[in-house]
Amino acid sequence: VTVKKKLIRCGVIGLGRSGWNIHVNSILKNRDFLILGVCDVDPKVLRKATKLLKCKGYINYIDLLNDEDIDLIIVSTTTKTHYTIASKALKAKKHVLLEKPLTSNILEMKNLKKLSKKNSKFIIPFFNFRFAKEFNIIEDILYKKLIGDVFLIKRNVSYFNRRDDWQAKKSESGGIINAAAIHHLDQIIQLKNKLPVDVWKDLKQVVTKGDTFDHSKILMKFADGCIADIEVSWASALAGYPWHILGTQGSIRQIDNILECKWFDKKDVEKKINQKRSYYANEKIKWKKRKFILDKKYAHGISPTFYKKIYNSIVKNETLPVKIESIISMMTMLKKYKIN
Ligand SMILES: NC(=O)c1ccc[n+]([C@@H]2O[C@H](COP(=O)([O-])OP(=O)(O)OC[C@H]3O[C@@H](n4cnc5c(N)ncnc54)[C@H](O)[C@@H]3O)[C@@H](O)[C@H]2O)c1
Repeated sequence: VTVKKKLIRCGVIGLGRSGWNIHVNSILKNRDFLILGVCDVDPKVLRKATKLLKCKGYINYIDLLNDEDIDLIIVSTTTKTHYTIASKALKAKKHVLLEKPLTSNILEMKNLKKLSKKNSKFIIPFFNFRFAKEFNIIEDILYKKLIGDVFLIKRNVSYFNRRDDWQAKKSESGGIINAAAIHHLDQIIQLKNKLPVDVWKDLKQVVTKGDTFDHSKILMKFADGCIADIEVSWASALAGYPWHILGTQGSIRQIDNILECKWFDKKDVEKKINQKRSYYANEKIKWKKRKFILDKKYAHGISPTFYKKIYNSIVKNETLPVKIESIISMMTMLKKYKIN
């Protein structure tokens, strides 16, 4: 007897860079999901999508929510519209995958959490960088304590982009923090598994054509003394190292698509007795090294893992890949330090 595998039937609302490039693309590569319908207010975009996907298309998302066969709604519209659409989707008894930064304010996030509970449907924040290949390698190295105790984490995601779309506007909840930095701040908090005890920030408008910040430097101090130095900028003509982590027994560094780890075991340090006239400690260290070549397409944090995990949560009742509580607590911290 062949048991039919459960398919998750989806509706995608908003077919732009995220909706089309990330979500539709990921779903098409995963046989556990099926797109039943799509929605966009732009008729041209909608026509193109329905033709390619051979599914139903709607200009008004309410009509998509009325399709009883849909299990999961993906909300990938402009940020300002997220709250209304996501709350209506939960009330329509759909699971919701909601693009970052979720909503424009914390109260709305808390309301979505309540609606999710009330309607017994999941709200899943799409913080895809938690499942980026390089990030999972780093998590693994730190978990195994290969480089000892970490005392400095430098994260740099910088390039040159004079944005002039809605993401450059304050009124649209745009800006470097909501559009980009929250992914990387969230990564650091995941690595530390707790919120910082102190935060310093410098936010600037440098080359943007809009009215909100396009450059951010954030320093976080954790209870164990570890410092995180996070720079996310659209005003940097030359890129920095995406990751550089210092521990008491080694380092991790990413340059372009190469991630390296260099470390030693305490037993492999040999102190020599005859000190010469040297400025260096006269000791021999048996370094260990590992190198990971990263697939360039993972540079934007898109890996198939997120959708696999969504499937396991909905069908096999496994824990959600990202819990909304973790995003609410990060956003509350950012608000406290006037970062968002
Ligand atoms: N997780 C990531 O890595 C990632 C990457 C890019 C964008 N995003 C997020 O995805 C969301 C969309 O960003 P984007 O860059 O794709 O924007 P976009 O402007 O490229 O696309 C948004 C689309 O939504 C449509 N739309 C707007 N209002 C609508 C409504 N009421 N009903 C139906 N369709 C509507 C627009 O016509 C447009 O096609 C944002 O919240 C952004 O923060 C996340």
